[in-house]
Formats: sequence, structure tokens, C-alpha cells
Amino acid sequence: MAKEPVRVLVTGAAGQIGYALVPMIARGVMLGRDQPVILHMLDIPPAAEALHGVKMELVDAAFPLLKGVVATTDVVEACTGVNIAVMVGGFPRKEGMERKDVMSKNVAIYKSQASALEKYAAANCKVLVVANPANTNALILKEFAPSISEKNITCLTRLDHNRALGQVSERLSVPVSDVKNVIIWGNHSSTQYPDVNHATVKTPAGEKPVRVLVANDEWLNGEFITTVQQRGAAIIKARKLSSALSAASSACDHIRDWVLGTPEGTWVSMGVYSDGSYNVPAGLIYSFPVTCCNGEWTIVQGLPIDELSRKKLDLTAEELSEEKALAYSCLS
Ligand code: NAD
Ligand code: LMR
Repeated sequence: MAKEPVRVLVTGAAGQIGYALVPMIARGVMLGRDQPVILHMLDIPPAAEALHGVKMELVDAAFPLLKGVVATTDVVEACTGVNIAVMVGGFPRKEGMERKDVMSKNVAIYKSQASALEKYAAANCKVLVVANPANTNALILKEFAPSISEKNITCLTRLDHNRALGQVSERLSVPVSDVKNVIIWGNHSSTQYPDVNHATVKTPAGEKPVRVLVANDEWLNGEFITTVQQRGAAIIKARKLSSALSAASSACDHIRDWVLGTPEGTWVSMGVYSDGSYNVPAGLIYSFPVTCCNGEWTIVQGLPIDELSRKKLDLTAEELSEEKALAYSCLS
């Protein structure tokens, strides 16, 4: 029997990531090749015409799984009945703007969209925040949508996770699909900690630790970490635009694994509400290693954390605490 369509909201759908993401969703990359979808696309009035153009292209592409498209600048219409919400819309930093100005614009957007999701989304709607500052926008959304379970509000660090897999794969000249269990700890910012201490590579002789195969701690503790931390800035420098296809693809990976489950023996990185695991302050949205089963994520417990890693976990937590304070000062 054919499945009922799932309603997927994409905010900022007329933007760069939106343009890459909506065809992926309509093709079943996010929820599976047998899962019909209805796309809800939200943008702001100045982008209404461009949004209409994206809708026309979706119609023209004749995606078999796409059972409907709502393209709107009305947040209530956009949020009504959605099962999955991918929050990409936001205000980009412009020349001469301070960090606080960008934060102030974005937390105000996430506060108001939190209320709309709380009132109009389907019960148990799963939310992924992509727009920067992603962890703090997600935290504001969580705090202003108290009836949405904290288990249902996450932010995207899967792009950073995939970047780390990509760097190891290139260094060892192995397929990226043979590398697993890297971890991104903390903030989706340059203080994030890409950790390979538990990562492995599939070889004909079984799974081997990345540290053993790379056999170069100087690279793993230095250039590897900074390359992943700075990758977003490197893409902006090269493209004059921020990452879009990789962000869209990673957003699909995030939701797919959350809904359909992570493979046995594999974890992924997700920005989730901290419960104090690994002595990360509770009450932050922090990227942890997680496994997913039956539509729920669980933080992987008990991984040994060495002294260097501890410092890096704490540093990125401190930045998130500062961002949280700044966000609240913008709202007061
Ligand atoms: P973009 O500027 O091309 O698109 C953003 C869209 O959001 C625009 O169409 C804009 O009109 C819309 N928008 C603005 N305010 C809105 C509102 N209140 N409601 C709905 N839509 C609104 O930007 P982009 O390149 O698509 O990037 C989007 C965001 O994702 C940025 O914040 C970017 O920094 C972030 N990003 C995050 C990651 C990650 O890994 N977490 C990766 C790449 C980019
Ligand atoms: C990325 O990681 O590619 C983006 O978050 C960069 C940015 O600042 O938009």
C-alpha cells in the first residue's frame, strides 16, 4: 500500500541551500525512495517571486514522489501540519554588521517561528536548524516552543562530520564510505572539535583506527582540525558564496538517519540539547556523537576523552554559553 505523504517545511527556500535542497527532498533523498512528500516552502515577501520560480521548477521536474507544493510568505500557512521542519531561512551578515547585529536579527526570527511551529506543526514534528548561528538559533527555537519536545529540536553539524570523513578519505586515498565514527563536538563554528580518536576505516583485514592508518598525529591534531573548522570560510572564499550543495546533502543525511536510523555500529554527529553528557553544560544545543533508532537519537556514552580533547570540548562549550547570553541580551 502507498505511504501517506510526509509534509516537509523548508524555510528560506528561495535561497541557495533551499534551491539545492528541495529537489533532493522531492527525489526521496531525505526520506526514502518510497516516501511521498508534500513540500512547504517559506520565504519573505522580497523573495516571493523567486520562490514562485522555484515552485514552477518543481512542477516542471515532475518528481513522482512530490504530491504537492505550498509556496508562501505566510509563516502560519507554511508551518501548518508539517512533520519535518528544515529551518534554513535567516539574515546573512552584511558588510559593516557586528556579530551582535546578525545574532539580534536571527534570534528574533527564530523566536517568532518557534511560536508558529508550536501552534501549527503536526504533533511530534522534527526540527533541524541550518541557519547560522545554527546551535543558538535552535536553542532559541526550543526555548520559545516549550511544548515541542527537546528531543525534536536539533541543528546541523552533519556537514562538518561529512567534511571530516572527506578529509580522512583524501588523506588515506580510501573511499569515504569506508571511513566512519568521526565526531564533531560543540558549535557549528570555528571552535568546533573534529575528533578522530574513535574513527575507523574498513580494510580487507577488518576495521582499523584512523590514528593507526594515518600514523601522523601532528597532521591529525593540527592541519586536519583547522581544515575542518575553517572549511566553511574556504568555500566562501572559493565560491564567493557559502556552501550550498554540501549543506543541502548533509541536511538530508541528518534527517534520513534520524528518521530511518543509523547503521549498526555507526554513529553520526548532531547538534542536540545537552543533558550534561561528557560534562558539557546542560541546556546548550551542542554537537555530540549520536545513534538513531525508531525516530529517536541517543548520545553515544562512555567514550574515553583525553586531555587535549577535554580542553577542546570545553572551549567550544564556552563559546556556546557566550552565544546563549548574547542571544538573550538581544531579546531583552
Ligand atoms: P541565502 O541568503 O541564499 O538564503 C537565505 C534565505 O532565507 C533567503 O531566500 C532569504 O530571503 C530567506 N529568509 C530571510 N529571512 C527569512 C525569514 N524570516 N523567514 C523565511 N525565510 C527568510 O543563504 P543560504 O546560503 O541558503 O544559507 C542559509 C543559512 O544557512 C545561512 O544562515 C548560512 O550561514 C547557513 N549555513 C549553515 C550551514 C550549516 O552547516 N549549519 C552550512 C551552510 C550555510
Ligand atoms: C558552512 O559551514 O559552510 C557555513 O556555515 C559557512 C557560513 O558562514 O555560512
